[in-house]
Amino acid sequence: MHNIKAVIFDLDGVLVDTAKYHYLAWKRLAQELNIQFSLQDNERLKGVSRMRSLDIILEIGNITLDSDTKIQLAQKKNIWYVDYISNLTPKDILPGVIGFLESLKVDSIKIALGSASKNSMLILDKLNLTNYFDAIIDGTKVSKAKPDPEVFLKGAEALKVLPSECIVFEDAEAGVEAAINAGMYCIGIGSKNILKMAHLVLAGFSDMTFDKLKL
Ligand code: BG6
Ligand code: MG
Repeated sequence: MHNIKAVIFDLDGVLVDTAKYHYLAWKRLAQELNIQFSLQDNERLKGVSRMRSLDIILEIGNITLDSDTKIQLAQKKNIWYVDYISNLTPKDILPGVIGFLESLKVDSIKIALGSASKNSMLILDKLNLTNYFDAIIDGTKVSKAKPDPEVFLKGAEALKVLPSECIVFEDAEAGVEAAINAGMYCIGIGSKNILKMAHLVLAGFSDMTFDKLKL
């Protein structure tokens, strides 16, 4: 890794453990539809858009629905999800994240968000994290879901850096693939068994500083 000028963070499952609330809300919807939906199935939903997530669940249940019904179901899931995250506070920021963000500031490394979520601004505000970001690219700004690299390329463009000058932190298979497709160095947060394509996989940000990343 040479000449890193920027770090792009995924949100859900990287900065905060909202992935579990996405799972709970989808599980509730799947139950209403009589679809068996496991934690393993849920890995396929991580990082992908709301509508694509619903399509995957319907595929698992072998159910076809018209687009109006799908929009209503996705809205219903989102209402439950927003309710689950209504009590988020800065205490929910994952361990080591603030220390790492501060170390990036000290080293003058630019910071962007690259998330598929349309709830990103709401979550960053609840966590008091918004001001750390030089650019925020979220589900309201992209048209192609991860593993398409659009979200990360837009992040690099907004920060005025090259893809090769960026590190991406991701917890989702689709997100790691998107970062690799963007030509960026990708650090997976989670398990090596799942994030096979990442350049490096870490369990989390505990005690991490930018200095320690200069491998
Ligand atoms: C991603 C999550 O960050 O955002 C996905 O990993 C989620 O699970 C996607 O489906 C879209 O989120 P939202 O908040 O717009 O429904
Ligand atoms: Mg994620």
